Amino acid sequence: MYKDIKVDVSEGIATVTLNRPDRLNAIRRETIDELEHAIRTIQSDDSIRVVIFTGAGDRAFSAGADLKGGMFSENTTAREAISIARRGQELMRLVEEFDKPTIAAVNGYAIGGGCEFALACDIVLASENAEFAQSEINLGIVPGWGGSQRLGRVTSRNRAKEFVLTGDRIKAEHAREMGLVNAVYPPEKLTDAARGLAMKLASKSPVALRLAKRLVDAAYDADLRTGLDLELQAFSLCFSTEDAREGIRAFVEKRQPKFKGR
Ligand code: COA
Repeated sequence: MYKDIKVDVSEGIATVTLNRPDRLNAIRRETIDELEHAIRTIQSDDSIRVVIFTGAGDRAFSAGADLKGGMFSENTTAREAISIARRGQELMRLVEEFDKPTIAAVNGYAIGGGCEFALACDIVLASENAEFAQSEINLGIVPGWGGSQRLGRVTSRNRAKEFVLTGDRIKAEHAREMGLVNAVYPPEKLTDAARGLAMKLASKSPVALRLAKRLVDAAYDADLRTGLDLELQAFSLCFSTEDAREGIRAFVEKRQPKFKGR
C-alpha cells in the first residue's frame, strides 16, 4: 500500500494521484520510490492502456521537491544533491519512456519538480487555475529533474530561458500559448477531459501507440536521417501485428477496430 500516492485502475486507465495535499503534493524520497514502484507495476499490466497523473485536492498538481527536509534542505551537501537530482531524473526518464501514453492532469500549482513531472508526460492538460513555474532560481539553485532540458524542447530556447531564469509563475493559458500545455479546462471539467482523452487513446492499438510515442520523441533526440530510419522500421514492424490487420480490415468493413495489443 502506498502512503504518498494513490493508484486507481478502471476501464484500462490507471490514475496515479500525488496524495499529500497538505504539502501541496510535494515530492519526497518516499514519493519517488512509490511512483517508481507504481509505474513499473502498471508497465507490466497489459490490461492498463493509459496513465493519468494528477494531484490530490484542488490546489496543486505538485509544488515540487519537498523543501521541508523530505528531499533537500539548507544543509544538503553537493554530494547529496547529485543523488537527489539523479533519482529525480531517473524517475522523469521512466515516465517519459513509459510504454503507455501518459497524461498529466494539472489541477493547480505545478512548481519546480511538479512542472518537470508534467514536462515528462506525453500530453499536459491543465485547469484554468493551474500555475506553472521552474522556481528553483528563487532558491539560489537550478532545475535538477530535467526542466532545463525538456522545457526548450516543448517551447523555445528563449521562452525556456525566461521561464528558468526568472522563476516566475505563469497561468495555464500562458503555458498553453508557450506549448507547455496542450489544453486548458474549467477546474470542474479537467478530470472528465483527461478521462475522455485517456479513453480515446485506450481504444487505439497499444503497439502502434508505443511506437508512435517513441518516434515523436526520437525527433528530439536523433538527427533526421536516423529518425526517418526509425520510422521506416516502426512502420514495417506494424505490419507484423494483428492490430494493423484488424485496423485496416475494420476500416474496409466500416466498423470500429478492436485492438488487442499484438
Ligand atoms: N515542500 C514542502 N512543503 C511545501 C512545498 C514544498 N515544495 N510547497 C508548499 N509547501 C507547504 C507550505 O510550506 C505550506 O505548509 P504549512 O501550511 O505547514 O505552512 C503548505 O504547503 C501550503 O503552502 P503555502 O505556501 O501556504 O501556499 P501558497 O498558496 O501561499 O503558495 C506555492 C503556494 C506553491 C507558490 C508556495 O508554497 C511555494 O512557492 N512553494 C515552494 C515551491 C518550490 O519552490 N518548489 C521547488 C522546489 S525545487
